[in-house]
Amino acid sequence: MVNNLSPKTASPPPPRHIAIIMDGNGRWAKARGLPRVAGHQRGADAVRGVVEACQDLGISYLTLYAFSSENWKRPPAEVDDLMGLLRVYLRRELRELHRSGVRVRFIGNWSVLAKDIVDLIEDAERTTRHNTGLTLIIAVNYGSHNEILGAVRRIAEQVGTGRLKVEDIDDAVFAHHLNTDGIPDPDLIVRTSGEKRLSNFLLWQAAYAELLFTDLLWPDFNRQSLEEVVDEFHRRDRRYGATSG
Ligand code: IPE
Ligand code: IPE
Ligand code: MG
Repeated sequence: MVNNLSPKTASPPPPRHIAIIMDGNGRWAKARGLPRVAGHQRGADAVRGVVEACQDLGISYLTLYAFSSENWKRPPAEVDDLMGLLRVYLRRELRELHRSGVRVRFIGNWSVLAKDIVDLIEDAERTTRHNTGLTLIIAVNYGSHNEILGAVRRIAEQVGTGRLKVEDIDDAVFAHHLNTDGIPDPDLIVRTSGEKRLSNFLLWQAAYAELLFTDLLWPDFNRQSLEEVVDEFHRRDRRYGATSG
């Protein structure tokens, strides 16, 4: 039977939510004899093309891992460089993100960052909160263990005060207490630079994500790279524990 609504030639719907571990800036710089900060600069530049490609492909949510709760272990000068680039990114890109309908959200414990960065983050969330295009989620000072422990503490508190019954704690209640409340779980998690680990990123939310590891270094990741990972995603068979359809 011919189904007019979905002709055979139509491309499958894109993943709703892509999350990216943007890794390899340091190695990109090292390969060119440049300081690591040059890699981070080029990495920040790469973000724009990927955001635009997500908008064009009709992806609803893009999460970018910008700074992990473990990245404080880096030399203070590099941490300063990364924070400086976050500042520059937010100052430079907010207007265009807002103009193109992007809703910006942050996850992670960003409230401990420098006051002017906190102001920029709050301004970005406030300015764009009613936008209906791509939701861009930036993970800053983010770590899944902290996020999960925070949820456990708040849930335990509610049980302690009698507001919540132990038997009512389910997936939805738990997810509601995570930073990603209201955001669907990622369908696809991409990590660049050839490393094959999650580095404390979206551990709860990754339960049924497809994982894709590419050797490309983040500054080299562009629109075409995104299209290729989406093509690979479409070749995967997501079974969620059931048998193949
Ligand atoms: C990713 O690139 C950026 C952040 C983690 C903030 P890296 O700085 O980790 O680059 P490599 O892994 O040293 O090449
Ligand atoms: C993960 O990359 C964090 C971000 C991309 C922000 P890292 O380079 O910090 O991860 P590890 O240390 O290799 O696991
Ligand atoms: Mg790295």
